[in-house]
Amino acid sequence: MSAEETLAQIAGEVSVCTNCELHKTRKKSVPGVGPANAEIMLIGEGPGFNENEQGLPFVGQAGKFLSELLAQAGLQREDVWIGNVVKCRPPNNRDPLPDELAACDKYLERQIEAIDPSIIITLGRFSMGKFSPGAKISAIHGQMRKVGNRFVISMFHPAAALHQPQLKTTILADFAKLPQLLEVARRELGRAAAEAKAAYEAAPEEEPKQLKLF
Ligand code: URA
Ligand code: SF4
Repeated sequence: MSAEETLAQIAGEVSVCTNCELHKTRKKSVPGVGPANAEIMLIGEGPGFNENEQGLPFVGQAGKFLSELLAQAGLQREDVWIGNVVKCRPPNNRDPLPDELAACDKYLERQIEAIDPSIIITLGRFSMGKFSPGAKISAIHGQMRKVGNRFVISMFHPAAALHQPQLKTTILADFAKLPQLLEVARRELGRAAAEAKAAYEAAPEEEPKQLKLF
């Protein structure tokens, strides 16, 4: 199955999912959107009012701000994949609960596997927690670290930053540094790929095995 087909299949499963309480109050599930071969995946928290109406991520006020932050970093919204840790809206935008996060994580895991992004940008503490359990966002915001063969960058949530002037200044500064971080990640991953290729080419060729017919 192609990555695109896998993502479509996951979206279909999510739309009828009843694995946690959030399905009871959702209008439209929000599986996520973007190119199946995206280099960068953005992971937020969960759908809010507008997302629940439209079935699309980050289409409200926070989404508008996110688009601005991305543009400031030279990224087009259409070039990145955008999704959330929970695919159905928590009532009154409350925090997602541990059992809801756990139930929905299998979809996110499959999405990450299908897209196989080089870089993941987490928005807010719930998606940060998936990659850096126990970390404090106030300590690691704006920072990049390697998780497996990808780079993960933790950002504050744009919705939180929208209404807190101090946080807004911080998130703007963090996104302003994003192009530099992307460059470092691309260089490191390019070098790792080149090294793997060189090692492969340096390895002695295996003798083709003769088929024994008799
Ligand atoms: N906030 C999120 O975390 N995700 C959305 O999709 C919209 C707002
Ligand atoms: Fe299923 Fe996730 Fe929606 Fe819960 S939030 S019902 S696990 S799709």
